[in-house]
Amino acid sequence: MSKLFSSVTLGEVTLANRVMISPMCQYSAIDGVAQAWHRVQYGRLAMGGAGLVMVEMTLVSPEGMGTAGDLGLWNDEQEAALAEVAATIRKLGAKPAIQLGHTGRKGATQRPWHGGMPLSAVDLEVRGEQPWPIVAPSAIPMSADRVTPRALSLEDIDRIRRDFVQAARRALRAGFDVIEIHAAHGYLLHQFVSPISNHRADEYGGDLARRIRLPVEITQEIKALMGRKNALFVRMSVTDGVAEGHGVPESVTFAQALKAAGADVIDCSSGGLIGTASNSRSARSRGFQVPLARAIREGADVSTVAVGLILDGPQAEAVLKDGSADLIAVGRSALDDPNWPLHARQTIDGPGFEHWPPQSGWWLERRAALLSSTQRGMSPLE
Ligand SMILES: Cc1cc2nc3c(=O)[nH]c(=O)nc-3n(C[C@H](O)[C@H](O)[C@H](O)COP(=O)(O)O)c2cc1C
Repeated sequence: MSKLFSSVTLGEVTLANRVMISPMCQYSAIDGVAQAWHRVQYGRLAMGGAGLVMVEMTLVSPEGMGTAGDLGLWNDEQEAALAEVAATIRKLGAKPAIQLGHTGRKGATQRPWHGGMPLSAVDLEVRGEQPWPIVAPSAIPMSADRVTPRALSLEDIDRIRRDFVQAARRALRAGFDVIEIHAAHGYLLHQFVSPISNHRADEYGGDLARRIRLPVEITQEIKALMGRKNALFVRMSVTDGVAEGHGVPESVTFAQALKAAGADVIDCSSGGLIGTASNSRSARSRGFQVPLARAIREGADVSTVAVGLILDGPQAEAVLKDGSADLIAVGRSALDDPNWPLHARQTIDGPGFEHWPPQSGWWLERRAALLSSTQRGMSPLE
């Protein structure tokens, strides 16, 4: 059997296989509450055969929202709706995971398909989306055409740490096996880590040890809350992709500190600090972030997730076999084909349908036999 479809245990969480559906914002929540869209979207991704289905970036406070359609996890209604999403994922065969975040200076923007720019009076008039004040480690906007955030006070930082821990408590109650802390893509925790966005002169700014302090403290507190029964992932941008930013050596140090604080897995992405997450200046080609996952795995002796243009089963299998990562995350390919894991399995473990849900697999097995007999020139009834 392939490595991709062998089970893996992280903390005490055992996944049936090593395919993770990467967190992908759906921008379809109302007041931060998951809707039918989320139950169906995450349910069909679970039916597609992934070992782990990770729910999109879910904000720990109203201030941390990116767009008006983001998921939130600061009240009981949001928790109850996410509990249904988690139960749906589990019933359909995968382990449920959720990513917790705060967008910092990237907050209060339009959905990508409305332009992705700061919310303005026009958005209020057209869609009833009122902008809200945004915050960051320092009062530095992401770019000249973005809103300048308010620099956080030490009291604010303390509150944000407690917001993360409280959201993690709710996520555990809602039934998620895995929590991922979002410290990548230019969102708040990444803004603390990068020297481009963090110009603070107190204990949360300055040298690397101070810049990584907030994500490390949050990791420690959430791990203490969850114990060994659940697994804790942290997603980081291993490189900012810009000359003045941080790179692999700093990220190895960061990963070592996260591991010591209790992180089980580092999910290795890149970019996003300047422009959008899909706008880092790193070259983008098949598996472009795999070397980053390998560098963190080797440098910090920690389990990693590789992500980014991993397009088919043989490519994913090769990434695992060469020791670059422990899990493979699949994003856009799963939007295109929610059955991506089932199809990938057929390309590396054989063409049968025995791993498919019988509701579809039983029929497809017979259709495949029919088609091959037709191709051999036999009548379908023979
Ligand atoms: C629609 C969409 C939404 C995304 N939302 C998130 C998110 O909520 N959190 C996150 O860490 N990454 C997010 N990403 C990035 C993906 O998780 C993934 O890292 C990226 O798409 C690269 O993987 P791929 O080439 O397999 O798509 C998003 C990507 C897409 C396409």
